[in-house]
Amino acid sequence: MTTAPPPIIRDATDADLPAIFDIYHEQVATGSATFDTTPRTPEQQRAWMDAHRSPNRPVIVATDSAGAVLGWASVNQWSDRRAYDRTGEISIYIRAGMRGMGIGRLLMRQLIDRATAAGLCVLLARVTEGNPASLNLHLGHGFVTVGIMHRVGEKFGRIYDVRLLELHIDGWSPAVQS
Ligand SMILES: CC(C)(COP(=O)(O)OP(=O)(O)OC[C@H]1O[C@@H](n2cnc3c(N)ncnc32)[C@H](O)[C@@H]1OP(=O)(O)O)[C@@H](O)C(=O)NCCC(=O)NCCS
Repeated sequence: MTTAPPPIIRDATDADLPAIFDIYHEQVATGSATFDTTPRTPEQQRAWMDAHRSPNRPVIVATDSAGAVLGWASVNQWSDRRAYDRTGEISIYIRAGMRGMGIGRLLMRQLIDRATAAGLCVLLARVTEGNPASLNLHLGHGFVTVGIMHRVGEKFGRIYDVRLLELHIDGWSPAVQS
């Protein structure tokens, strides 16, 4: 029996946009991981990529050895108020059928490393309740729960709570602070 080689992790390029949004739109249409309810237009997809051209807003992809995109992850702007520039919010999506194989873990590790190298201090994540894979992925990389925002989202006729998590990547911790 041969085992598949590990995925390759690299920076995303404009050529990856169709694959990135193919993966994302599956969750737009069928999942609760994103509260987007309509697919992004090609113009919106390009604008999204344009907003990720600086080192502190990385987009990375995992590909197989043939170059097919299996998943992606990004650091997004948390707020357009400049004092929040030390903080980013992460997104991570693996292609349906390729989940639970360790690809999310690979992308998360690399994303944290890139965000740290770019000088970001805090990563935030919003995880919809009822998504144990995402919650375990974040907790397994040191994210801690800030709190639960109750009943903030409604999709497919169901109301959702959303958990806000934070990861300090600048060495700060409550013990250092006090
Ligand atoms: C959430 C997601 C990114 C995780 O990536 P993945 O490649 O499936 O996860 P991995 O195989 O790397 O596993 C990561 C961790 O989650 C855990 N996990 C994976 N699937 C799980 C499941 N179905 N139930 C519970 N835990 C699970 C694993 O045990 C692993 O933890 P460990 O390292 O302690 O063993 C992926 O499932 C996905 O894209 N889901 C749909 C979109 C989504 O929810 N995105 C996140 C938005 S916040």
